[in-house]
Amino acid sequence: MSGEEQRVFTTDEQQLLEEILLHRRDVRGNRFLKTPVTDEVIEKILQAALSAPSVGFSQPWEFVLIKDEATKQAVKATFSEETQKAVVQFADEKQKEYIQLKLEGIVEAPINIAVFYKPKNEPVLGQTSMPNMGKYSVVCAIQNMWLMARALNVGLGWVSILDPQKVKQILNAPAENELIGYLCLGYTDMFYNQPELEIKKWEQRKQADEVIIQEKY
Ligand SMILES: Cc1cc2nc3c(=O)[nH]c(=O)nc-3n(C[C@H](O)[C@H](O)[C@H](O)COP(=O)(O)O)c2cc1C
Repeated sequence: MSGEEQRVFTTDEQQLLEEILLHRRDVRGNRFLKTPVTDEVIEKILQAALSAPSVGFSQPWEFVLIKDEATKQAVKATFSEETQKAVVQFADEKQKEYIQLKLEGIVEAPINIAVFYKPKNEPVLGQTSMPNMGKYSVVCAIQNMWLMARALNVGLGWVSILDPQKVKQILNAPAENELIGYLCLGYTDMFYNQPELEIKKWEQRKQADEVIIQEKY
């Protein structure tokens, strides 16, 4: 024991976390405002990422902050190309729905953050049997950013309909880096109370008893 006083959370604080979890949303271009996000706010969101758990405390992440219009336009171009390839993979009736969805806010969001996994050249404690654990650690960092952004009333949208190699080229990323998430951030005119894909009847929320198994399958 370190002898340090342990932080104990009050019921109100517990409820606050629950509220933030429930009200976190993926925010897309139709909702972003042009209002600039200050460096101080971005710093808080990045600090949340840096306090995420990581396998072997490897912290295998790097973050590229993007405000430049030309860079955003180049990333948007790969989104458009990948969207064309995506649509045809869905059944006819879903294709019509798909093309009506807004699935990114690259240009509308005042700031984009590309999040990379940077592998180590040596074994990582905890990652020796399950090599994806480093990448999952980067996802933990993104989730921390998403929650912190929501607490600061900043919208965050995750865009994955991109060619990761093209994004790497656009950003001059080192060859060994792997793109994990491309995030669009900004203030929004509103946060939906439910996932947009649920409102638009693309998917339904699963019930707990559909996915929680007691003891064994
Ligand atoms: C790994 C990951 C990738 C995602 N990629 C996209 C994407 O490319 N475009 C998009 O519009 N939303 C994307 N999303 C957001 C999901 O659509 C969204 O989280 C889901 O519909 C639930 O809505 P909510 O986040 O508002 O609760 C992604 C989410 C995750 C976790």
